[in-house]
Amino acid sequence: MSVSDTATPAAVRVAIVGATGAVGTELRRLLDERDVPIDGDPVFLASERSAGSRLPWKDRDVEVQAISAAAFDGIDIAIFSAGGDRSKEWGPVAAAAGAVVIDNSSAWRMDADVPLVVSEVNPEAVARRPRGIVANPNCTTMVLMVAAKPLHDALGLTDVVATSYQAAGGAGMSGITELLEQAEKFLQQPEDLQTDGASAEARVSAESFSKALAFNVLAHCGSFADARYTDEEWKLVNESRKILNLPALRMSPTCVRVPVVVGHAINARLTFTQPVQRAAAMEALAAAPGLIVEDGIGKDGEPLAYPTPLASAGRDEVFVGRIREDLGDPYSLNLFVVGDNLLKGAALNAVQIAELIVAERT
Ligand code: A2P
Repeated sequence: MSVSDTATPAAVRVAIVGATGAVGTELRRLLDERDVPIDGDPVFLASERSAGSRLPWKDRDVEVQAISAAAFDGIDIAIFSAGGDRSKEWGPVAAAAGAVVIDNSSAWRMDADVPLVVSEVNPEAVARRPRGIVANPNCTTMVLMVAAKPLHDALGLTDVVATSYQAAGGAGMSGITELLEQAEKFLQQPEDLQTDGASAEARVSAESFSKALAFNVLAHCGSFADARYTDEEWKLVNESRKILNLPALRMSPTCVRVPVVVGHAINARLTFTQPVQRAAAMEALAAAPGLIVEDGIGKDGEPLAYPTPLASAGRDEVFVGRIREDLGDPYSLNLFVVGDNLLKGAALNAVQIAELIVAERT
């Protein structure tokens, strides 16, 4: 056993920016449960609205502070999950104060001097961070990458056609609240859902999403951007290329919002440099870290098994099922990947990046 196997990592001072939010809540829980060695109490930061309130931490609670330059004094790791504007403004401030910034927003992801890291896929990228910032990928991209990487390693990925089914929780706490409030209102007059959907829709307000999400499916996630694709769709394209180090990867994305509280699903058709057999794909997927294969058709001795967002909510792992050779192209494989967007899709990966940084200090 080497010295580094036995060395205890030095404890780190940690700040969470956005500690009161949906991802911030999971960050607090995970830092505690995974026993990240934290020196003293973590610093919880949020907006002026929350300043002075208290959040639980282990057997006590810690006061929330408004974000400020002084709040980063002495901090080793600052995890940001308070929106891109805060990350753009305060990320460099925290880095200049000596912290490694782990940023959950899209603000820094495509910066050439900021690594974009999925802990199971490209952990080595964390080491080169000239800005002192490490970016956490978009939740949909993250979930897809955990399944795509082992297949790419085995077969050489060239093309991806991906359709996402994204949960309300991807838009934060306000997205979840909006979905639940709409559902409650609709259920007061459920017959409209069958006979007069437009009247039902007129009774609810839609702010987090562009139309009513409850009992609906929205072919619109994020804001429209270049070539009539949304920014969510462009994130899937650009971030996948960066994480897999495949700048020429051909991608066709469609991001769809579904009335699920937590858990993003992606149906993907992956094309490789060589013909692909299901058995070889299953072998690569079964050996992949952080991934569970749930794939059975309920006959010929197989149990019925496939992943769902509901069953993945609150789980750390990414799940993959419906693994099928493509009917038209021997070089392509179809599969369905699901992961908790607040956990592996956000907070868990951020904490796993923090663990990689802590490990550097042993
Ligand atoms: P606050 O609770 O004080 O508004 P979510 O993604 O669940 O919507 O959470 C967003 C997080 O970002 C919350 O912790 C929120 O704090 C924080 N936040 C939002 N606006 C600001 C701001 N202007 N300065 C600091 N934190 C902010």
